[in-house]
Parts: sequence; structure tokens; C-alpha cells
Amino acid sequence: MKKLNVNIDHVATIRQARLGSYPNPVDVAKEISSSKASGIVMHLREDRRHIQDYDLVNYKKNIKLPLNLEMAPTIDMIKIANRIKPQTVTLVPEKRQELTTEGGLDLKKNFLKIKNLIKKLNKNINIMLFIDPDLRIVDVCNKLQIHGIEINTGKYCDAKKNNISKELSKIRKAAKYASELDMFVAAGHGLNKKNLTRIAKIKYIKEYNIGHSIISDAIFEGIIDSTNEIYYIINT
Ligand code: PXP
Repeated sequence: MKKLNVNIDHVATIRQARLGSYPNPVDVAKEISSSKASGIVMHLREDRRHIQDYDLVNYKKNIKLPLNLEMAPTIDMIKIANRIKPQTVTLVPEKRQELTTEGGLDLKKNFLKIKNLIKKLNKNINIMLFIDPDLRIVDVCNKLQIHGIEINTGKYCDAKKNNISKELSKIRKAAKYASELDMFVAAGHGLNKKNLTRIAKIKYIKEYNIGHSIISDAIFEGIIDSTNEIYYIINT
């Protein structure tokens, strides 16, 4: 079976809008524990715009589902990961001004830096690198002897009609090549109920990391109940 990990960053985005304690992403992770999901993803951004350090501590104390911690390749983040000990760390590029992760890691520029950081990470933590679907980048990942790669599906999801097949083909080729090199292959970014169908047919992709669309769809699926609950409180 292919695995689904739910990224709960945007539960924290809603909480941080009021700088309060509700909704608590760890409580949402507990709810997700009763779903078909295999794991949870949280991105501890350097600017702490959504997930906070204490969310990771609470998660490890209270939730059994495996945690995939997304983070920028910096020594400070490696230290945090070594303290928290998630099952997996996914290294992603990070820019302060971006609204969300904009592309895969630049391994040409950062090869030595990433190689040295990987050496400092606790050996029991699986390391994944978030990369664009490019065979040359897959080759570089192979040299780093990591657990696997997460292929950036962002360009495919944003592609205009006549480019969709081209982007899909890049993802398929990269996934096939990486799995032939014995790397675990995940995919994520921008995936939703509509654009997932074609990606889900790529047998080499074993895991999907999806956040924004699941949290957004949950609003539509829950809005009638939450509205009516308030109505009944007003009217009893
Ligand atoms: N994978 C990575 C590496 C990401 O940075 C993100 C966004 O935080 C996701 C997956 C999930 O993307 P989305 O929220 O668009 O589903």
C-alpha cells in the first residue's frame, strides 16, 4: 500500500493568526491517528511562522504516528532534530520571503554543506532530501547514501494544460531512477484531490506528503457540523 503523511502546518497557521493555543496541531494529529494516514509531517520553519518548537515536544510526548520533520539544512535545525528524534527528517530549502517551499534543494551549490550536516544527524533518523525531478540531482542524492528522496510535485501542480504531461514525465523518470538506485521515493507539494490521480499511478512513488489541500477540504467537510453546534448552543 502507498503511504499518506498529513502535513499539519496550516492548523498551526490558523492558531498563530491569533497567537493563541487553538487549534492545537497536536490535537489534530491525534484525530488523524484514527484515519488511514501513516504519518504526520511538520515543517519547523526558521521564522516559526506556523509550527513552534513546543509543538514538536508535545507531539513526541503524545502521538504515536511516525513524524517526518521538514526543516532547512542548518546546524541549528540539526540540533533540534537530534533532540526531538523524529523517525524522518526531510531537508528542504528555505527562503524567508517565500509563501511556501518554492523548489527542491540546490545540491550543486550545497553538496558539501549538506553532506556535513547529514553526518551530524542522529544515525537512527531517516534522511530524505526534497528535490526537483532531475536525474542528475537523483545521482547526487545517491552519493550521499540517504534513505530517500521526496520529489517536488509543485511544478506539475502549477503547470498549464500543455505542460502537465511533460512535468509528469519528469517525475516518473526521477522516481523510477531513484527506486532503481534503492532509494525510498516520496512526493509532495501542491497535491490535491484533482491533480493526485495521475501522480498516484506512478508505482515507484511509495509515499505522499500532503497538507494544504487536506486541511482546506476539512473546512468544507466540517463547516455544517461546526456551524450547527454553535446554533444549538445559542438556542438551548
Ligand atoms: N513536501 C514538502 C517538502 C513541503 O515543503 C510541503 C509544504 O510544506 C509539502 C510537502 C506539502 O505541500 P502542500 O501543503 O502543498 O500539500
